[in-house]
Amino acid sequence: MKRVFLIVLDSLGAGQMPDAPVFGDRDCHTLKRIAGSKKFAFNFMNKMGMGNIDGQEFLPREEKPLAAVARVAELSCGKDSTIGHWEIAGVVSPAPLPTYPDGFPPEVTDEFTKLTGRGILLNKPYSGTDAIREYGREHMETGKLIVYTSADSVFQIAAHEDIVPVETLYEYCRLARNMLQGKHGVGRVIARPFVGTPEEGFTRTYNRRDFSLEAPEETVLDRLAAEGKTVYGIGKIEDLFAHRGLTKSIHTGSNTEGMAKALEALDLDFEGLCFVNLVDFDAKYGHRQDVDGYAAAFAEFDAWLPSFLAKMRDEDILMITADHGCDPGDSHTDHTREYIPLLICGKPVKPLNLGTIEGFATIAATVADYLGSSYKCGSKSLLPIIAKPSKDEKALVKAALEAMEKSYSPYSGFKVGAALLAENGEIYSGCNIENAAYSPSVCAERTAIFKAVSEGVSSFKMLAVCGGKGGKVKGVFPPCGVCRQVIAEFCSPDMPVLLISGRNSFERTTFGALLPGAFSPSFMGKSDAGK
Ligand code: THU
Repeated sequence: MKRVFLIVLDSLGAGQMPDAPVFGDRDCHTLKRIAGSKKFAFNFMNKMGMGNIDGQEFLPREEKPLAAVARVAELSCGKDSTIGHWEIAGVVSPAPLPTYPDGFPPEVTDEFTKLTGRGILLNKPYSGTDAIREYGREHMETGKLIVYTSADSVFQIAAHEDIVPVETLYEYCRLARNMLQGKHGVGRVIARPFVGTPEEGFTRTYNRRDFSLEAPEETVLDRLAAEGKTVYGIGKIEDLFAHRGLTKSIHTGSNTEGMAKALEALDLDFEGLCFVNLVDFDAKYGHRQDVDGYAAAFAEFDAWLPSFLAKMRDEDILMITADHGCDPGDSHTDHTREYIPLLICGKPVKPLNLGTIEGFATIAATVADYLGSSYKCGSKSLLPIIAKPSKDEKALVKAALEAMEKSYSPYSGFKVGAALLAENGEIYSGCNIENAAYSPSVCAERTAIFKAVSEGVSSFKMLAVCGGKGGKVKGVFPPCGVCRQVIAEFCSPDMPVLLISGRNSFERTTFGALLPGAFSPSFMGKSDAGK
């Protein structure tokens, strides 16, 4: 049963992106900042290969890392959790979510007053605790709602639980949520109930509730859920996706709790995705400019990691990443426009350094690919590069190399071998067979295909090809145009093709990538290749 555990260390940026100044950020690097703290501990993340990621030269490098690693650039125009997570789940946002440094415009406040029948107080970016301390009394006397925002894309409504019952406040939030779409589509509308008296002071209650904006397009979560897979959200994942695409979810309050739930999830039998967000890095330390606190939280995660890896099953993949930066030591308390780190490990994964990749959606594409989902987004899966060879692949490579030895190529001296894995599990291999008259020569791929077809087998699920002068495989030897046309007769565009590049190495591609837009049987009125 294939499972992917995707853990987002909220705001753990891997260095500033080139366009950071456009977002008001300079000299930001969240990981580098916390690595300078005495509280920073870097043992297991080091073993994973975090120090090998582009731009992390201040960390020790690991010769034999456990994970495939990359630095990933954000394509969306934004630096917040919502947009970051949406991109991780496959949806790129061309525009940032709206923020309101001068408060909400009259078109918003007037409409909200009309909908609720209540006036509003404050209407500025404000600290939540200051808001109730300074406006609590007036709110209690007039019944007007305390509406405020922050540097984030939020519409927050604070109300005393005795003046506006919690359920009514939630209803006001729903009205606001429906109203705040399109141009004013804020990331979250947040209910901020509080209790207390003007004399003794006010305190916020645990009845806070977030009403998130829905992702504008289908995410990998939506598709996986629709395909019957489990999609389990831990932490604030349910808020970030407005509960959409989750088959199970739990709202944790802290990193410690989130990690405990993730560990418990390893004991559950499911096929699908477990998506975890550890929010403390951002909420407790990043925004509060607490470098040591952030470093200590990282150390806690680092120390916890071995317990997680020890419980992983053979078909589990762990991905560790972030959603944006929030450098706790830069000049402001906001998020920072940074690359994110990506570490992928597990038995099915080959550790290697992938350099710098464009687009967080690479994660969605890889998750979908591994779980066999039909979800497609603008990014490509990393699986063809990072997956360890499967049993079938190993067998096919071996068969192609063996067939190559039998090549009859006295004229060119090039030995070529091909092996096809048929739907029935049988392998059909072939070599190139040359002829003194040259033109009757046949390539290895066609020999293999014709061999199978003449045995009554014409449905195939994988092809491997190798070749080289004198039978030395030094780099790939891709199928010629004529062979591609013959392959198009029997194989579908998504059929994997292994281009063998050495005795123990191969590149994965698909037949569709080798011959896009092929003149296939469908053009002759036949529906499927090979059927
Ligand atoms: N060859 C193949 O067997 N397969 C291909 O797809 C490309 C070419 C053989 C034909 C010939 O015997 C030799 O390689 C040099 O072209």
